[in-house]
Amino acid sequence: MATTSKNILDSLPDPVIVVDNKRMVIQANLAALELMPGDTIGRDLAHSLRHPLALELVDTVIKGGTVELEDPESLVEIKYTTPLRRSFSLHIVQALSDRDNEETQIVIFLRETTADKRAEQMRVDFVTNVSHELRSPLSALVGFIETLQDAAKDDREAQQRFLEIMSREAGRMSRLVEDLLSLSSVEMNEHVRPRDSVEITKIVNSVIESLSVRAAEKNLELKLEIEELLPPVVGDSDQLTQVVQNLIDNAIKYGGHDSTIEIKVDTTERVPQTVGPGLKISVRDFGDGIPEEQITRLTERFYRIDKARSRNLGGTGLGLAIVKHIMNRHRGNLEIQSTEGEGSTFSIFLPVKTGQNPSGGA
Ligand SMILES: Nc1ncnc2c1ncn2[C@@H]1O[C@H](COP(=O)(O)OP(=O)(O)O)[C@@H](O)[C@H]1O
Ligand SMILES: [Mg+2]
Repeated sequence: MATTSKNILDSLPDPVIVVDNKRMVIQANLAALELMPGDTIGRDLAHSLRHPLALELVDTVIKGGTVELEDPESLVEIKYTTPLRRSFSLHIVQALSDRDNEETQIVIFLRETTADKRAEQMRVDFVTNVSHELRSPLSALVGFIETLQDAAKDDREAQQRFLEIMSREAGRMSRLVEDLLSLSSVEMNEHVRPRDSVEITKIVNSVIESLSVRAAEKNLELKLEIEELLPPVVGDSDQLTQVVQNLIDNAIKYGGHDSTIEIKVDTTERVPQTVGPGLKISVRDFGDGIPEEQITRLTERFYRIDKARSRNLGGTGLGLAIVKHIMNRHRGNLEIQSTEGEGSTFSIFLPVKTGQNPSGGA
């Protein structure tokens, strides 16, 4: 009987500890022993649970009292820092008295809240970042409005200059809001698989056309190499346009000048991390490249190698985060390869409709 209940407790992912009415640990499941190494069984709970308030609550329950934890998570948060920082919320239950000697047993459950805490931290960081990004153009606008109403009231030349700056700052705010809305709508529908049959060739060609003037301004040649008779992919045409647009736009912004941007579309037998075939679209530039340790961080919201440079170029730092979420929705992948001083290649992989011959018809 005892072994069975021990096995059951051991199979639980969260730590469970049972103490007697002297607060001595009489049972602890595997998860608890892993968390509290050393001699736990047969010793006072205080040796393994170093949290005064938690111990006080256990004592209260031992004495027959009840602890009404309306929100146990905020009341007691237990942190273990080795080897990784983990947090737990506390739940105490008075178990049935032991029939033989009428002793009370107290069961202590620790529910892991590490992931919740991390998500909460990410949410807080996100709000801080958004506020910060909006605040600087907003305070510039407010400042210039005051100047226009006051000091520059009769200076037509200054007015013209200030209005230009104001228009640029307002543009920055509106791009940010647009990207935020776009990110949130992609995230909201990330679990809904797209259904349309999409011709990538059309998308790539139209994006190249729309960005060709900007590329020409930096004397960058957009070179396209596209395999013939590509199979259609199942996708969301607007979102895939956004992905290709983001990648080519970045290549134009960060890929130097007087050079080439190579855009390649071909089939691949296997989309990374899947078993099926797909399409690979890659955008290669010959710009400064990206330091290796920063590559994995580029898809984080607001992460930019050089914030000031990105802002000057009209960036929001959300483009690659949007790309990542769109690729998740398409069960595709984004791969970034870069060598400092030589350039970067951003590739996306998209699964193709299986059971289709490569004639393009859907
Ligand atoms: N082709 C590229 N070459 C070098 N750095 C790049 C390239 N594409 C993106 N980056 C870096 O990744 C950052 C994030 O990109 P993105 O999310 O599109 O933001 P944004 O374009 O608004 O700055 C950029 O600020 C830049 O530092
Ligand atoms: Mg971008």
